[in-house]
Amino acid sequence: MAESMKGLRRSHRCTELSNRNIGETVTVMGWVQKSRNKGGIIFVDLRDRSGILQIIFEESDVGSEGFEKAEHLRSEYVIAVVGKVEARSGAVNEGLETGDIEVRASSIRILSEADTPPFPIEEESKTKEELRLKYRYLDLRRPDLQRNLILRSKVANITRQFLSDEGFLEVETPMLTKSTPEGARDYLVPSRVHPGNFYALPQSPQLFKQLLMCAGYDRYFQLAKCFRDEDLRADRQPEFTQIDMELSFVDVDDVIDVNERLLRKMFKESINIDIELPIQRMTYAEAMDRFGSDKPDIRFGMELVNVSETVRNCDFGVFTSALENGGSVRGINAEGQADMPRKKIDALVDYAKDFGAKGLAYLAVNQDGSYKSSFAKFMTEEELKNLVNAMGGKAGDLLLFAADKDETVFAVLGNLRLELARNLELLNKDEYKFIWITEFPLLEYSEEDKRYVAKHHPFTMPMDEDLHMLDTNPAKVRAKAYDIVLNGTEVGGGSVRIYQSDVQEKMFEVLGFTKEAAYERFGFLLNAFKYGVPPHAGLAYGLDRLIMLMAKEDSIRDVIAFPKVKDASCLMTEAPNVVDDKQLNELGIQIQNNQVPGTIH
Ligand code: AMO
Ligand code: AMP
Repeated sequence: MAESMKGLRRSHRCTELSNRNIGETVTVMGWVQKSRNKGGIIFVDLRDRSGILQIIFEESDVGSEGFEKAEHLRSEYVIAVVGKVEARSGAVNEGLETGDIEVRASSIRILSEADTPPFPIEEESKTKEELRLKYRYLDLRRPDLQRNLILRSKVANITRQFLSDEGFLEVETPMLTKSTPEGARDYLVPSRVHPGNFYALPQSPQLFKQLLMCAGYDRYFQLAKCFRDEDLRADRQPEFTQIDMELSFVDVDDVIDVNERLLRKMFKESINIDIELPIQRMTYAEAMDRFGSDKPDIRFGMELVNVSETVRNCDFGVFTSALENGGSVRGINAEGQADMPRKKIDALVDYAKDFGAKGLAYLAVNQDGSYKSSFAKFMTEEELKNLVNAMGGKAGDLLLFAADKDETVFAVLGNLRLELARNLELLNKDEYKFIWITEFPLLEYSEEDKRYVAKHHPFTMPMDEDLHMLDTNPAKVRAKAYDIVLNGTEVGGGSVRIYQSDVQEKMFEVLGFTKEAAYERFGFLLNAFKYGVPPHAGLAYGLDRLIMLMAKEDSIRDVIAFPKVKDASCLMTEAPNVVDDKQLNELGIQIQNNQVPGTIH
């Protein structure tokens, strides 16, 4: 039976007690982690969100009724204990924060009994994630998840404190709004009052924060929920949180400066990591050229080398035909891997094919200077030597080459580099390597839509020196856009915004919007720009991704209290779900026959 808390008040969390409290009478409350009955003496590990504390029950202290209750305890019962802090009677438990003390109970109340949980509540659970997510409220009792959420709260606090001190105002923007153009699919919410009309949940507060700049708020921030209906991955959720900000009267360097100081404070005060400032900056073009990626992991080398000129005149058709078609031949050097078994090399070739490679040419430099290669027979000794030299290769190295159009070569080698680093265990989670990537292309060509689309979003400012090419050579125009990358993950991104209506109109033109279409979608922003708009710029971090890396987790699900799984459903609440016909009728919505829930299509 559940007893009341009447007359009791918790004095400490479990690990707030230490040997300084010896002799004090305290009241603690929490969950039974474990209980051991040694005949005459019962030891209970009491758990709350701070950690574990040992309670010791003896009939001479708690009386026969109290002792009976203690005998009755099982895992996850919720209890309140009044008792005296003592030095540990048995051996000190070095693994426990409170390992040198215990509380000798003088009274106990059972506040709540508990069924046997479907899995043990323990650190580094071996239980399948699906089961843990179904019972997320139990999973969240585990110390690792609790630490992650405590870290998340701490980082949010530091961020609020820092940005407030820097003159940023926290302003909330609407969740029920009009579609914002971040490139993903929108989540739609039907309107009852306006049948047939829909709100969109925001993909980001982008347009609203720009309007706040128009309204003179100068510096804005928000820890904002964002919604994107896109394919989920380990670092993507359909709803996620941004640390979103916007600043007036600034350019790229100002945004970078304030954010570097924010990151330094955040990492120092939450996980005691020193970030050296300034953070390295690299242009998009250089990042692609050296790492085959716009989010390079710079914790290790293995950079791409362009060997196009070295192999231009050889007889290996795979290389020369790629060059004739305007592509390139590039390679990476897996140092010391010459002895990699054929099977593993084949696995790398298959991996490369996932990123569009037609094949992967390899050359291993044996210890005796001879070669083991898929293409050596097409090259002279001299050509091979030059190629090995160009790659900085030496005896014992394995050189891997891709020949194709640049885009494919970058995708293949950029990903292969990461795969090798994972296989060779070169990635150290204790290391935090930041890099800014700047000067992104403004546009990218969408084969699907047969037109240019904005790489960041349509409000991003072209670089001053490239502005004149917006009509003539749009693919070449670089943007005042920047990403902040940590250990190969894009943790944030932003840009300087267009604030001149003629540039904005031209941008829409290049994107294939008629003036009418542009006004229909973004009229409220374009109109606002007519009434005096300050130059402005901003940035948003993915908070979940930041915390994932800080907590050294592999998935953002481990730093979100109630995450969704791959098919965007919540295993605990079973959302999304069907709704009553009455609700649908009110909204004027009819489910198409082939979309009836439960039908397989
Ligand atoms: P962007 O679209 O680059 O920029 O988003 C900013 C950051 O949000 C994180 N992020 C995600 N995290 C988890 N799940 C997702 N589905 C997801 N999508 C994005 C990433 C990303 O770097 N309005 C602009 C910002 C600006 O220009 O100021 C924006 O939203 O870490
Ligand atoms: P093939 O002549 O198709 O047998 O290819 C000879 C070698 O070149 C094999 O090791 C292939 O995997 C490799 N190869 C094929 N296409 C490419 C390419 N586009 N880039 C790099 N290597 C390739």
